[in-house]
Amino acid sequence: MSDFIVEPGAGVAGRVRVPGDKSISHRALMFGAIASGTTRVTGFLEGEDCLATLRAVTSLGARVERPAAGEVWIEGVGLAGLGAPTAVLDMGNAGTAMRLFMGLLAGQSFDSELVGDQSLMRRPMERVARPLREMGARIETLEGRPPVRIHGGPRLHGIRYAMPMASAQVKSALLLAGLYAEGATTVIEPAVTRDHTERMLQSFGVDVTARGGTVTLRPPTRLESTRVEVPGDFSSAAFFIVAACIGARAPVVIEGVGVNPTRIGLLEMLALMGADIRLINHRTWGMEPVADIEVRPSRLKGTRIPERLVPLAIDEFPAFFVAAACAEGETIVTGAEELRVQERDRIAAMARGFEVLGIPHEVLPDGMRITGGNWFDGGTIDSRGDHRIAMAFAVASLRAKEKIEILDTENVATSFPGFDVLANGVGLHVGIGG
Ligand code: S3P
Repeated sequence: MSDFIVEPGAGVAGRVRVPGDKSISHRALMFGAIASGTTRVTGFLEGEDCLATLRAVTSLGARVERPAAGEVWIEGVGLAGLGAPTAVLDMGNAGTAMRLFMGLLAGQSFDSELVGDQSLMRRPMERVARPLREMGARIETLEGRPPVRIHGGPRLHGIRYAMPMASAQVKSALLLAGLYAEGATTVIEPAVTRDHTERMLQSFGVDVTARGGTVTLRPPTRLESTRVEVPGDFSSAAFFIVAACIGARAPVVIEGVGVNPTRIGLLEMLALMGADIRLINHRTWGMEPVADIEVRPSRLKGTRIPERLVPLAIDEFPAFFVAAACAEGETIVTGAEELRVQERDRIAAMARGFEVLGIPHEVLPDGMRITGGNWFDGGTIDSRGDHRIAMAFAVASLRAKEKIEILDTENVATSFPGFDVLANGVGLHVGIGG
């Protein structure tokens, strides 16, 4: 098991390019696998989560080549071409992979079973299984959690489903099942969530329309293979955005980042606190907007975060809480109970870290109240295998009085392989121990 040993740094500066987007990389593999023809992907995230998806699509019969770093070619088997896997499909730490595969596999003619690592085996799966059953799927969970057993051969029919929670994974799973259903599938979101599935399915030629929080898919006869240029992952860029807000000695520019409006709630949250962040060099890769993000040193002030921004920043709260701990005054986050069912309970995990590092805070059932403005003490944090908790506390070192040791950081490679090297390149001091 590896650890991070992070020494206080003298500040960050410079340019950095983060690895490819995790959500988009998963989807490129899955849609490419059931398309007709070869889908060519560049900028693919070679992190453990997406490699689990890659192994799964291979064992379902798609041929995948990796001609160069970040490049993947998927020879699609066609909408009806997937075959029974020879073994249980292991999703590792990847919740997105498991939930999206539930949707994709629900309409197949063969049986399949999905498992994952210790963390994933504790995460809720009924939020996907229940509406899939309404579509006619035959799916079992173990008291709501994996293993997930999917029985092949059902005739799926489209449904109109109002999601009880704002979840892009649930929405995407239903749309994937909808590819195999009779009639249209409509998903109604209680709040806007990331829309990579809708955008990418459109680029594969599928009839998906989205208006005012209602997404409708009409089953296609085929998906046309395409090219996917994966932008840098905004959720990985988030660590450098926060690092620059709290500890830049000169501007930091993060290049080629996906800035899909359903992903960049963090920018609005930090702007409310007085951050100086600009999007420059706008362009479009496929269906996704991309920009460089320029962050200048700023003095952050605490604020109350509007709940509408929560789903637009759901993966960024570990980093955001670190920013809040550095902002003058009080920051209040509510409406974020989804954080409790992520890789770890991220409210509890951040609170434990703040206790160790001397940051005053109050845990709320659905968020946290943080009193910021003081420097972090040194100390030892157990990330318990949550990649984003580990990276967030590494960034905290920019405002730490002493060394911070972060245990169990191996899973950083699930979303951000090479984080330590890139972080050190802009001025953090992340060492690997353990
Ligand atoms: C994701 C959706 C989000 C997010 C996860 C990736 C996706 O999960 O937290 O990291 O790729 O669809 P929820 O759908 O549970 O909000």
